[in-house]
Amino acid sequence: MLRIGMLTSGGDCQALNAAMRGVVKGLAANVDELEVYGFENGYKGLIYGNYRLLTSADFSGILTRGGTILGSSRQPFKLMRTPDENGLDKVEAMKQTYYKLNLNCLVILGGNGTQKTANLLREEGLNIIHLPKTIDNDIYGTDVTFGFQSAINIATDAIDCIHTTAASHNRVFIVEVMGHKVGWLTLYAGVAGGADIILLPEIPYDLEKVVEAIQRRSRKGKGFTILAVAEGAISKEDAALSKKEYKAKVAERKYPSVSYEIAAQISDKLGSEVRVAVPGHTQRGGSPCPYDRVLCTRLGAAAAKAIMEEDYGCMIAMVNNKTKRVPLGDVAGKLKMVDPGGQMVKEAKRIGISFGD
Ligand code: F6P
Repeated sequence: MLRIGMLTSGGDCQALNAAMRGVVKGLAANVDELEVYGFENGYKGLIYGNYRLLTSADFSGILTRGGTILGSSRQPFKLMRTPDENGLDKVEAMKQTYYKLNLNCLVILGGNGTQKTANLLREEGLNIIHLPKTIDNDIYGTDVTFGFQSAINIATDAIDCIHTTAASHNRVFIVEVMGHKVGWLTLYAGVAGGADIILLPEIPYDLEKVVEAIQRRSRKGKGFTILAVAEGAISKEDAALSKKEYKAKVAERKYPSVSYEIAAQISDKLGSEVRVAVPGHTQRGGSPCPYDRVLCTRLGAAAAKAIMEEDYGCMIAMVNNKTKRVPLGDVAGKLKMVDPGGQMVKEAKRIGISFGD
């Protein structure tokens, strides 16, 4: 009998169900007796013992379904060692649930924070397999995370829609794309959507340069400009502040997000209207795109193989279009960021996209 536990933690994305389906189908096709325990709402389910026994029917028809059949929640890694409001030791509680169910391993689907806790559980002696989920594509050690391509499609659609109305009204438009710490999604959607200016957390911008780029377009007779701005875009002045000073400044900000601040600043300089569109959580919603369905099926099948070989303590990554087991201890806590001097940024610049630097 093989007993596995499964949970989805952190912000959701489109392809979580597709990935879980891949794992379970990969096991069910090769193992005589299989029990799958699904923990509800991320690590919370593991901590408080909220789980249900899943059958193959639960994994049928979910390849195309967005969200997660298990539910998710954010359980910050930095608080994992802090007892809950009733004094419960969360790490100990998770271990107890695992041992009580006599699990062979725990399959954990999630992003960076989730991965750090997965690694902690590995260090505590549990058998862990991690699957790299996030629309941000910022997990170190894998070329791509699931959710990323689906989110690119949605963010690109948003930019496409703004393009036509911006052109009709000769307006400057900002489309704010998700990503507080890294700008992969903004970079890809920006390039795919033909944005004129792309602002990323990794490349602090100079407002004067942003305004110059808009004016350059006007001089060429282009009446509108599209900016793709990451949630975490940061000006050169703000990037020079300490973390604490920057946090305090953001807390004082009179705008709902950096995009509205940039819009007001550009509007002041140009004396013309600037509009902001925020697709927000739609970027994580809806059904997974075909690329993500294939990616998750492959990652899931590779995870099933690792489980059958009892090769635990790893993330199932995709590297050079091949699935790969990457030791969790080598990657947990690391971020994969856009390289400001990398090929993609250089090529985007070569075709005239401004990064405001
Ligand atoms: O990590 C994924 C992500 O969607 C980020 O791109 C975004 O900044 C954040 O989660 C939003 O988090 P929440 O759903 O908690 O608002």
